[in-house]
Amino acid sequence: MKLLVTGGAGYIGSVVAAQLVEAGHEVAVLDDLSTGHADAVPAGAAFVQGTIAEAGPVLSQGFDAVLHFAAKSLVAESVADPAKYWTGNLGGTLALLEAMRQAGVDRIVFSSTAATYGEPERSPILETDPTRPTNPYGASKLAIDTALTAFAGLYGLGAVSLRYFNVAGAYTARDGRVYRERHDVETHLIPNVLAVALGEHPSVKVFGADYPTPDGTCVRDYIHVADLSRAHLLALDACAPGRHDIYNLGSGSGFSVQEVIAVCREVTGHPIPAEIADRRPGDPAVLVASSDKIHRELGWTPDHPSLKSIVTDAWTALPKN
Ligand code: UFG
Repeated sequence: MKLLVTGGAGYIGSVVAAQLVEAGHEVAVLDDLSTGHADAVPAGAAFVQGTIAEAGPVLSQGFDAVLHFAAKSLVAESVADPAKYWTGNLGGTLALLEAMRQAGVDRIVFSSTAATYGEPERSPILETDPTRPTNPYGASKLAIDTALTAFAGLYGLGAVSLRYFNVAGAYTARDGRVYRERHDVETHLIPNVLAVALGEHPSVKVFGADYPTPDGTCVRDYIHVADLSRAHLLALDACAPGRHDIYNLGSGSGFSVQEVIAVCREVTGHPIPAEIADRRPGDPAVLVASSDKIHRELGWTPDHPSLKSIVTDAWTALPKN
């Protein structure tokens, strides 16, 4: 298939682009490089620098489907500057959907998020649970999910949204190239903990130790980026005209911040000092996915369900002096 990957120079988009090339698809990446890296675009994929609002001319070259990753994704930034999220994520995606319609591209796989659920009522979270985002980032992604449902019903679009929980780890492609997380502003736990093991910071901050969880720190569901990426290839095949399907993507088990730090200590052999800090605003205590639906309907199961293998791959991929 001929596929457009928006945000294919970013962490997750580049891994999916690499897996699509490996699967024999013809891939073009559209990325404005606001947070991505041009050198993350896989060999074998074409690259166009531009925003999703400028997708029209690219799409008019003829594509079978779009995999849509390009987005602003910093929760705290979304609270401070909501317009950036409404314009960039929702406005940009509406322009992309309109350009797809005009170009006759009728399939899309979309990166949604656990942040659409907000503070969950129960764990694990099912796709049918209430969606009450607690920040503009999650709200903008939920609005896109709503738009996709409408476009599927009205125009026959075939859409699949994948609601990611906590993505981590690195992917080594068949050509030996390594794709890893490298955000200029790093907010995610595992890269922040590993940065301490690398000597880049003296200690890691634990944001809150008074949550109603077994050790008082937040519990999350970590999923290996290679497993997450593989789900996109299944989702692409599952896109059916007039349907919008939503699937959670996690490993199904929760680990606390302290447990993650302990696994990082074990993997790196570094003591990794940690200090308890204030809670980070808007962090739910527990976020764990039920991924039963994608298992049942698309046959997806994680190849790397253990946190240790996720951390090991993230650590191995980091350049060391
Ligand atoms: N944390 C720390 N110290 C750090 C970084 C994170 O204690 O240096 C904690 C956070 O407070 C949280 C947990 O580690 O309890 C995980 O934090 P991440 O930032 O790694 O991930 P989040 O769970 O906040 O974010 C994920 C996705 C977002 C999505 C969000 C939904 O990465 O895209 O879930 O809540 F919006």
